[in-house]
Amino acid sequence: MKVIVGNEEAISRLIAEEFIQTIHAKPHAVLGFATGTSPLKVYADLIQANQEGKVTFQGCSSFNLDEYVGLEGSHAQSYRYFMNKNLFDHIDINKDKTHVLLGVGDYQSYMSHYDEMIEKAGGIDIQILGIGSDGHIAFNEPGTSFDSLTHETELAPSTIKDNSRLFHDISEVPTRAVTMGLKSIMNARKIVLIATGKNKAKAIYGLLKGPVSEAMPCSILRNHPDVTIYVDEEAYSLIR
Ligand code: F6R
Repeated sequence: MKVIVGNEEAISRLIAEEFIQTIHAKPHAVLGFATGTSPLKVYADLIQANQEGKVTFQGCSSFNLDEYVGLEGSHAQSYRYFMNKNLFDHIDINKDKTHVLLGVGDYQSYMSHYDEMIEKAGGIDIQILGIGSDGHIAFNEPGTSFDSLTHETELAPSTIKDNSRLFHDISEVPTRAVTMGLKSIMNARKIVLIATGKNKAKAIYGLLKGPVSEAMPCSILRNHPDVTIYVDEEAYSLIR
């Protein structure tokens, strides 16, 4: 596992570059995207690179990690809305080839086919991850089985609290989500994780130094052959 420490601008640029190189090597690459605050600068860099003609997403398809149960794709806090607004609306990807888990309607049936859809598309070539303050990746909260595939889950109280900053009131934060499982994530060929800020320091310590345990979901990444962790000084502060 490689670790790269730098400020948010620098590590975001490096991650965007990893995506661009993956696409240059394989124009039909399957891209794994995350939502949340952590990847926003990476997406801004990818938009800029696309608009400057340095990369095209025309051949790519994508799969997102997770979605809140109960939110329509048109809801401003849904992850489909987030991806359209922060990436897909501004690049030349074919939106029909972008996949975000459903949070309403027959979402359970869609969820049950998700890993198969990823496999049929050829498997994820590069997956970006954020990390929760409790060590979750996607919405795999502490205690989730390392063998999990895409499933429905209950959000931890700390995750609901962390994410309430994006809602008017904490009571509006959905308590359930659908998420790729830990095994689904481990199936990606290459994984890049970004973490910034003091709030992530404990999780980064658990990821790099703690025991590999289902109590700290991110620790499973230590078993993956191609992971790079991109952190700023604050997220790395308990390691130094
Ligand atoms: C989002 C996701 C989550 C976030 C994590 C960190 O798709 O999978 O695991 O990456 O909750 O969120 P931010 O980046 O907002 O701190």
